[in-house]
Amino acid sequence: MGTKSHSFNQKIFTLSLILLSFSLLILVTFFGSKHNIITERLKLQQSSYDDHQPNQVFTNPRWFDLIQEEINGKKIKVGLINFDEKEISEYQMHGSAVSTVHVHFDHVSKSTKWEDIFPTWIDENQESGPPPACPEIPMPRLEAYRDLDVVVAKVPCEGWTGKAGLRDVFRLQVNLVVANILVRSGWVMPDIKRPVYVVFIGVCGPMPEIFRCDDMLSKVGDHWVYKPELRRLKQKVLMPLGSCQIAPALGKTGKEAWRPHDPKLHENFKKMKLSRFHQKEAYVTVLHSSDAYVCGAITLAQSIILSNSTRDLLLLHDENISPKSLTGLRYAGWKTRQIERIRSPFSEKGSYNEWNYSKLRIWLLTWYDKVIFIDSDLLVLKNIDRLFVYPQLSAARNDRTLFNSGIMVIEPSLCMFEDLMVKSFKLESYNGGDQGFLNEAFTWWHRLPSKVNYLKYYQGNESHESIPDDVSAIHYLGLKPWMCYRDYDCNWDVEVRQVFANDKANEKWWQVYDAMPEKLQQYCGLTKHMDWRIKKWRKIARNLRLPDEHWKIGVKDPRQFNLIIE
Ligand SMILES: *[C@@H]1O[C@H](CO)[C@@H](O)[C@H](O)[C@H]1NC(C)=O
Ligand SMILES: *[C@@H]1O[C@H](CO)[C@@H](O)[C@H](O)[C@H]1NC(C)=O
Ligand SMILES: *[C@@H]1O[C@H](CO)[C@@H](O)[C@H](O)[C@H]1NC(C)=O
Repeated sequence: MGTKSHSFNQKIFTLSLILLSFSLLILVTFFGSKHNIITERLKLQQSSYDDHQPNQVFTNPRWFDLIQEEINGKKIKVGLINFDEKEISEYQMHGSAVSTVHVHFDHVSKSTKWEDIFPTWIDENQESGPPPACPEIPMPRLEAYRDLDVVVAKVPCEGWTGKAGLRDVFRLQVNLVVANILVRSGWVMPDIKRPVYVVFIGVCGPMPEIFRCDDMLSKVGDHWVYKPELRRLKQKVLMPLGSCQIAPALGKTGKEAWRPHDPKLHENFKKMKLSRFHQKEAYVTVLHSSDAYVCGAITLAQSIILSNSTRDLLLLHDENISPKSLTGLRYAGWKTRQIERIRSPFSEKGSYNEWNYSKLRIWLLTWYDKVIFIDSDLLVLKNIDRLFVYPQLSAARNDRTLFNSGIMVIEPSLCMFEDLMVKSFKLESYNGGDQGFLNEAFTWWHRLPSKVNYLKYYQGNESHESIPDDVSAIHYLGLKPWMCYRDYDCNWDVEVRQVFANDKANEKWWQVYDAMPEKLQQYCGLTKHMDWRIKKWRKIARNLRLPDEHWKIGVKDPRQFNLIIE
């Protein structure tokens, strides 16, 4: 019993000792760290005294903490963009290793609207006369800021909710000022570049159209740190401000923004482009949900091959495309790859565009540098391989400030895909389809000539009778040629669809069909249901005695006698 109680006391004693030392340890750590904080503060105060500014206490601005590791104690020069005088002192870095300059530029005129930069219509035929003018967006005197290492910019995020894309002229100006300054500072000679960094401050971040997410080093709160790839950034600053001008091809502008144009340098650029920047590129289309567009995709591939294109043809499809269709598609020239389709969050169940967000999968094709997405209801008439030089996102116009998503030049990127997927649940789409969504995700886009995505759509008294000679690709809006008899464009039979009708465009499509091997033509047959639908609308048109009188045409299309069994 005695020994037992003895050992019991000993245990209590040991336990108390442990508890005591533990509390002591906590106390020491607490006061110790407090002491450290105090001495750090004192040191900082001391260093600011050294700077002869006795009235202020400085700590590192947050941007400096974020970039510190990258610059690794080197002496750096920093440009501050879009801060007012009061804020400057807050963001300025005090210390002998950092010098700061305030980048000055005039605020873009308040009267400049987004619609001025992205007008619906411009005179695209630039051979006659000077190119259409873009509004002026003032830039800083670039030569005054050519050796910066870091740019810190406050980005305007006015009206940002995440529900719609920002179309803010001042935001564009600040992003372009940053891009120009970085290119100027980082791209010293055609083949000499030095690392430059940028920290954006603002909840909406930089414009993803100009600053690629691939170049982001970190994001902490509303601070976004980027180390931009200068080659791509340079191309961005050479692009027109918006769709107010047709985007010129890279290397053709002759006005690198940071130095006068020199033809010899220009030659060097061209050589570099050929040897070092050999790109992997592809035309890509997407089929999902049903076999309805298989014939379209087959004809499209054949038309691209006829145009003597040298690029890959890749078709993404979901599980609903039948094995027989895939055989035909491969025979037509497509490489095929299965994907899972993506639902459009804002479309109704069962609606025509329920799965249109499947298109977003093109950003996952990261083994290609560039992709031209092309809808399966297009037909290529002339080689359009030259479009691969344009940066993301280049497209032809649709209406208002928007582009048409039927042909798009994009740059695959995993982080961009992820970003788009996150945004797809927030950004609203005006038509529930991918086009409305992509126009919110890429409000800043580059205009390709309309003739590379000729929209078969006629308003008012516009002629439905011809297509211009210079058209490179026709976009078959409305009912597709393979859903009609070949004798005429059956959009004529339905009053609300007559805006899409053009017999000449219809003929062009059937010319490519006629040039295809029979093995491929069999994918373009009419089913009993398709035939029934054409006949139904012809009858309605006849009863209405529609004045275009296409319902009077004696149909000779042999497909009507060889209906395919489903
Ligand atoms: C493709 O190349 C062939 C042979 O060189 C040529 O005859 C044809 O015109 C070319 N097609 C186009 C659309 O340029
Ligand atoms: C969505 O896809 C369907 C076919 O898959 C197509 O008919 C329709 O035009 C597309 N809609 C939009 C808005 O892109
Ligand atoms: C079409 O109508 C507009 C007025 O609405 C007129 O100015 C134009 O000359 C017409 N064009 C043709 C080809 O008839």
